[in-house]
Amino acid sequence: MIGRNDPCWCGSGEKWKKCHFPELSSKSEASKVAERYYKQYRIRLKKPEEIEGIRRACRLAAQILDKLCKRSQAGVTTNELDEYAVQLHQEAGALAAPLGYGDPPYPKSICTSINDEICHGIPDDQPLKEGDIMNIDVSVILDGYFGDCSKMVMIGDISQEKYQVCNVAYECLQRSIHILKPNILLCEIGDIIEDYATAQGCSVVNQFVGHGTGLEFHEPPQVPHHRNQLKIPLVAGMIFTIEPMINAGVREARIDPSNKWEARTADGKPSAQYEHTILITPTGHEILTLLD
Ligand code: MF3
Ligand code: CO
Repeated sequence: MIGRNDPCWCGSGEKWKKCHFPELSSKSEASKVAERYYKQYRIRLKKPEEIEGIRRACRLAAQILDKLCKRSQAGVTTNELDEYAVQLHQEAGALAAPLGYGDPPYPKSICTSINDEICHGIPDDQPLKEGDIMNIDVSVILDGYFGDCSKMVMIGDISQEKYQVCNVAYECLQRSIHILKPNILLCEIGDIIEDYATAQGCSVVNQFVGHGTGLEFHEPPQVPHHRNQLKIPLVAGMIFTIEPMINAGVREARIDPSNKWEARTADGKPSAQYEHTILITPTGHEILTLLD
């Protein structure tokens, strides 16, 4: 969190309390920053009423994800989880963002990525089995606003290697969220994640990134989880995901040529991922995809 006497996030060099402290900031100042971020980076800073809508979409995504995780156990197929997800979206008056997304159009409503699958695993009729780890990724559209989150489920007893990679991915997300506040640079997220993951003997996938979200599924900026040079200062009103994909072995991903979606590790070793959608606030951040 920034203190009243810290330098203001806008880069003026003034103390925060003398510059953009919330009570003092005028509407026109906020819209000037928003204009600059759109011109320079194509980043849309969210207005208060948009934030309200995105908050609701994110809360729903977290609730659906939680219900899907509770349903996941040995013998259940990922198609059954997908059908349950369809029902939960319908009951809430929401749409699943993945369905029909991209080219070729993604065929299901959630992603279920098992063991060596890094991301974009397509639900099918294979039952989950003891020893599997699975990432479930839920992205909802509610009243036109987007929310995106994912987490790992562990089916029964899992190997030490799988446990480790899940833990490291979880820690990478938590540690990178912890530093978020106005004026830190976007590339600091990748520094934190790559430092931690490699110190734990894991690798960081660089072929997929986090992303701005809220008004569209994927908006600028891209949010790399690996070391990078994106010197974009975070500013209040930004909403983006962090979704580190961490591998037990090599970082390289291979995309399934038959469906052009499913990404697996090149060496067949396990991979894990956790994702939240996060809002940058004047004093720090708010995780929008937490359960209340
Ligand atoms: N959180 C994932 C992402 O942002 C969700 C992928 S859904 C898919 O890419 F449709 F793109 F597969
Ligand atoms: Co995402």
